[in-house]
Amino acid sequence: MSTTEPARKRVAILISGRGSNMASLIEAARAPDYPAGIVVVISNRPDAAGLARAAEAGIATEVVDHRSHPDRPPFEQDLDRALVRHGVELVCLAGFMRVFTPAFVERWAGRMLNIHPSLLPLFRGTRTHAQALEAGLMLHGCTVHYVIPELDAGPIVAQAAVPVRPEDSEDTLAARVLAEEHSLYPFALALVARGDASLSGSRVVFSVNVRHAAGALANPVPA
Ligand code: GRF
Repeated sequence: MSTTEPARKRVAILISGRGSNMASLIEAARAPDYPAGIVVVISNRPDAAGLARAAEAGIATEVVDHRSHPDRPPFEQDLDRALVRHGVELVCLAGFMRVFTPAFVERWAGRMLNIHPSLLPLFRGTRTHAQALEAGLMLHGCTVHYVIPELDAGPIVAQAAVPVRPEDSEDTLAARVLAEEHSLYPFALALVARGDASLSGSRVVFSVNVRHAAGALANPVPA
């Protein structure tokens, strides 16, 4: 890195499972001009498949097992210590299945992102694909947002929409959304790491470098 280039933001990814979003972030961060570097992957579950994937990619891994802590504050204290030890500046939740206390969220306010498999504010929580099908939605998708104490309710950084097809099952719809997640999360993290997206109160504001979509989407497609 030359002295004129801004330093890459030091990012931790928090996972609980397979880590496919984690893998897409790690892959994106391999590019020399990507504005963030993944310095550690932390799992609350020792058996998370994503840990092996991260280690194979040469990323430091840690386990902070929630089950070996009596309740949330000591668990979060250990997690926080690990983040500080790695000099982490931004935290990306990627399939991390623990809900934080407001105190932990406040500590990382404006520095913690999450990806959620719905077009928020629709379908917070779990079973998002089943709910989209039950509601008869024609468009579904995913959202990257800043984390606030209220679950899946933080300021939105980026969203991607996919069509819902009549023949969709929960699995086919989930797969279509997941494919979008894998490009949306690296894109959204880059916006935040470069300072092209930032928090302004309860909204995200964008720099002049960011292009937004023009026109409208429709599904089904009009003849
Ligand atoms: C993704 O669908 C993500 O949106 C949600 O949990 C799932 C994690 O999948 N928060 P993976 O572990 O990244 O493959």
